[in-house]
Amino acid sequence: QTTLGDAAAAQGRYFGTAVAVDRLGEPDYTATLNREFNSITAENSWKWESLQPSPGYFDFSTADRIAEHARQQGMELRGHTLVWHSQLPSWVENIGSADELRAVMRNHITTVMEHYKGQVRSWDVVNEAFEDGNSGARRNSVFQRVLGDSWIEEAFWIAREADPNATLCYNDYNTDAWNTAKTQAVYNMVADFVSRGVPIDCVGFQAHFNSGNPVPENYHITLQNFADLGVEVQLTELDIAGSGASQAEQYAGVTLACLAVPQCTGITVWGVTDKYSWRAEDTPLLFDGNYNPKQAYYAVLETLGGS
Ligand code: G3I
Repeated sequence: QTTLGDAAAAQGRYFGTAVAVDRLGEPDYTATLNREFNSITAENSWKWESLQPSPGYFDFSTADRIAEHARQQGMELRGHTLVWHSQLPSWVENIGSADELRAVMRNHITTVMEHYKGQVRSWDVVNEAFEDGNSGARRNSVFQRVLGDSWIEEAFWIAREADPNATLCYNDYNTDAWNTAKTQAVYNMVADFVSRGVPIDCVGFQAHFNSGNPVPENYHITLQNFADLGVEVQLTELDIAGSGASQAEQYAGVTLACLAVPQCTGITVWGVTDKYSWRAEDTPLLFDGNYNPKQAYYAVLETLGGS
């Protein structure tokens, strides 16, 4: 019997999950995590509000438990996330001076990346900087308002300096279907960065799917188009609302899309068990509330060549 992690590794990929620190004490949770996955993303504990709740005060105590678990288990780490409008403390949201915000952004990225230097394979340097809907516009965040369009590339330059060996990702959701304003806006930004030498290495597709954002029929085309710009692509927060055969089929399709694209280096699902999912009512994950593998689990495993 193979596992998701082993089967993905045989395909030259990782298979990861988001982890909530306070669940690590639950034996079934940790057993499932350790058996099936070989990469971890902290679901919440590496976010700005957790790491630097007040100006200049960094607290890595909870975050380090994720890193320690990964180290003990020989798992990779994805760093999520350095600059994001959400789970951002109000002291940052209230900064009105560009010089001050720039210095604060630099200090946060540098301190966090240096703390974990050499331990994190990929970082979500910037998360969710574009609006939903048809505008293709940048999201109205404090970074966008105070620093203007250049804030994203500034973040990537700072990140490259802080840990030159990490893979630097731009991460977003609803960027799966190719012909939408949001996907095109992100694509254009990445193309522009690559052409001007801004240090971006990767695009993360959160891949949160439901009826509003269904799995596109030719998902691999979107992934391949981005990869053709010269970046890695990763599925960073995969979950698919549904159940049974239909959910399993969609999971298989997404897995196949990644396998079809040589530059798709790995898949992370956004949680171990349905019961702790951020949208538990959608039962979007691979294990049910009792840690039994679902049809979706077997579909992913078989698509990865495992059994
Ligand atoms: O820890 C507190 C707890 O002390 C308090 O009693 C409780 C009351 O609401 O809240 C708890 O914090 C919650 C936290 O999850 C931990 O469970 C927050 O309210 C809740 O907002 C937070 O939600 C997280 C969400 O990001 C916040 O935006 C989800 O767990 C997490 O899965 C989700 O992850 C995001 C990615 O980072 C970015 N992409 C989308 C994805 C899904 O929304």
